[in-house]
Amino acid sequence: MQRFHLLGTIVRRQEFNEHAAVLGFLAPEIAASARPGQFLEIKVAGVLWRRPMSIYRCEGDVVEILVVVIGAGSRSLFQSKIGEKLDVIGPLGNQFPIDKVTGVGKLEVIIAGGSGIAPFPFLVERVQRQGRTPRIFVGARTKSQLLLDHLPAEQVHIATDDGSEGYKGSVVDLFTNFIDAHSIDVRDIVVYACGPGGMLRSLQEVVRARRIQAWLSVEREMACGLGICQGCVVRLADGGQRELQNSSGKMDAPDVRYALACTEGPVFDANSIIL
Ligand SMILES: Cc1cc2nc3c(=O)[nH]c(=O)nc-3n(C[C@H](O)[C@H](O)[C@H](O)COP(=O)(O)OP(=O)(O)OC[C@H]3O[C@@H](n4cnc5c(N)ncnc54)[C@H](O)[C@@H]3O)c2cc1C
Ligand code: FES
Repeated sequence: MQRFHLLGTIVRRQEFNEHAAVLGFLAPEIAASARPGQFLEIKVAGVLWRRPMSIYRCEGDVVEILVVVIGAGSRSLFQSKIGEKLDVIGPLGNQFPIDKVTGVGKLEVIIAGGSGIAPFPFLVERVQRQGRTPRIFVGARTKSQLLLDHLPAEQVHIATDDGSEGYKGSVVDLFTNFIDAHSIDVRDIVVYACGPGGMLRSLQEVVRARRIQAWLSVEREMACGLGICQGCVVRLADGGQRELQNSSGKMDAPDVRYALACTEGPVFDANSIIL
């Protein structure tokens, strides 16, 4: 897929709270070609490496990102103002395989934790455009950290760690309770998920145990985003964990294989990776 390197003028800025904002900038080439799950590498003042940001929405010529403040890079981006230009490379990475969902009665389920909500307004819009209605499970530590503005409220189920909104507990438990309560045939479910490592690991256990098809978007530090620096490795499950005794009685190194999250991901089949 073609990628672009451009300076996009910021034309929109919507602040949700003191830690999160959506920035919209002009990037017609990216808006026309991006797919849900892909990301951008954005140059940020004050930090050395570009920061990867998911594509949050594409509307006309405008591409939006959701910035949640973690450290220096995201804070600098969060403080960007309308009229400033962003130095952007993208779209990068693979996508959630929404075009491969066929068959009547498939239930597409989105599971998002914290800033992991970022790829999903775009994905929901594209799935709905294809005539399907995904269920959306969103988790956050507390009510004030929920970022729900661009999701269809009637399809959203909420979990917070402190119970200040929705189900008290993890979003993975909320999802598991939902499929148990509705006796849904797991063969009909396709999960798309993004969130913190702990959430993805616990979801991976659930979907493996129940044989649910699931696609996980994983976060890694990404200096280049282009497959050059090798800094974004994800361990593959099919590399095996064999430790063979060689002729001298020593153990060989385990047969371990890795993929690059920036070019082979960030979206992986839950069965294919070790988190
Ligand atoms: C494919 C991909 C898509 C992404 N999409 C988005 C997005 O849409 N919106 C968004 O806000 N961010 C997104 N991120 C994360 C973002 O790129 C930065 O990693 C993050 O903002 C931290 O950068 P920083 O410069 O602010 O903090 P840094 O200075 O890099 O980190 C500060 C501290 O926070 C820790 N840290 C770094 N990242 C995280 C994290 N995610 N959670 C918890 N602690 C962390 C670091 O280890 C360090 O201790 C994405 C990452 C990837 C790989
Ligand atoms: S970020 Fe450089 S190889 Fe993936």
